[in-house]
Amino acid sequence: MSTANRFVPLASRAVFSRRVMLGLVGSAGVLGVAADLHQRRDGYRGGNGNGNGRSTGKLWTPLVAGAPIAHLAQVDKKYGESDYQAVYNAIAEKLRDEDEYDNYIGYGPVLLRLSWHCSGTWDKKDNTGGSFGGTYRFQKESNDPSNNGLENAAHFLEPIKKQFPWISYGDLYTLGGVTAVQELQGPKIAWRPGRVDMPEDTTPDNGRLPDADNGASYVRNFFDRMNFNDREVVALMGGHALGKTHLANSGYEGPWGAATNTFTNEFYNNLLNEHWTLEKNEANNEQYNSPKGYMMLKTDMALVQDDKYLPIVKEFAKDQNAFFKEYTNAFQKLLQNGITYSKDSPVFVFKTLDEQDL
Ligand code: HEM
Repeated sequence: MSTANRFVPLASRAVFSRRVMLGLVGSAGVLGVAADLHQRRDGYRGGNGNGNGRSTGKLWTPLVAGAPIAHLAQVDKKYGESDYQAVYNAIAEKLRDEDEYDNYIGYGPVLLRLSWHCSGTWDKKDNTGGSFGGTYRFQKESNDPSNNGLENAAHFLEPIKKQFPWISYGDLYTLGGVTAVQELQGPKIAWRPGRVDMPEDTTPDNGRLPDADNGASYVRNFFDRMNFNDREVVALMGGHALGKTHLANSGYEGPWGAATNTFTNEFYNNLLNEHWTLEKNEANNEQYNSPKGYMMLKTDMALVQDDKYLPIVKEFAKDQNAFFKEYTNAFQKLLQNGITYSKDSPVFVFKTLDEQDL
């Protein structure tokens, strides 16, 4: 690894006090130095981080000792909405074609889970982790036991990366989740490009993703690390309308409901209306099971056991539009946490294949 790709150690960061930096502002030459140091501190160099060497805009952000690292979205102006829609379409068409995966559930749920797990490592305290750097592509992160099973989503996306090499991994992983939600009849999710692949040494340590064997206070604390309030947490968990748990991946087994590949508010209705029994499964882990063969994790059940979460569950069970509205907000926030966007940085709302008659 080249020196330029390494972090500047904390000790040397301290040298650049706020006062020193303010003193330097205005001198273009010195700003150039600041930009270079900042890039090193962030662990990436100019260009869009995709290895094609193109520079995509200015990188400079205020360098203040002890301040969290800023991750500036960079978009190569050469690529516009129709290029990103083409990536969306390629993912959506592959989803439609390869429908036999996981007993005909298809790849939608696992793509959604990858987008959430590559974002869900974010820590607001120091702006480490998160979707920006595309670090799931490194073994340290993909081998986190919490990510078992997500290699299927990564393999699914690899040919798309080959077809569109200009898109960063961070953008691709998050766009995969947006495509899955929209193609499975969920709400439209506004999505912003500009994540920059960062080097391996910026990969967050394992252990930042949630452990399902916990109750409401754990869930609240966990999501507070990413700045989510109760309403956003209840909405995000509605992602469990899709897909299932697999003994081989997580040590849990079964789906949350009947419609495993349609994005609906069924999760909340099942939480409220099914008859749940806490049981040990084959792997000796506790999960709630219902006579219909559905399951809930303890962290799911926490949403009906907590006085503050429960009314929100009831609202979303009754009103799918209210759920979709909050999900759109919370999911977009999840995918963007930790990223700074300039005012003219684009926001895209992609058309589904149906809307394009494809
Ligand atoms: C406290 C928070 C959460 C916990 C503890 C949790 C835990 C789990 C576990 C244990 C699985 C089973 C994985 C497997 O065995 O294959 C799973 C699957 C899944 N999770 Fe979560 N999850 C949480 C939040 C979320 C959120 C916020 C989303 C989306 C926004 C989400 C989306 C999914 C999806 C779509 C699947 C199904 C994947 C598949 O079918 O392959 N989860 N989750």
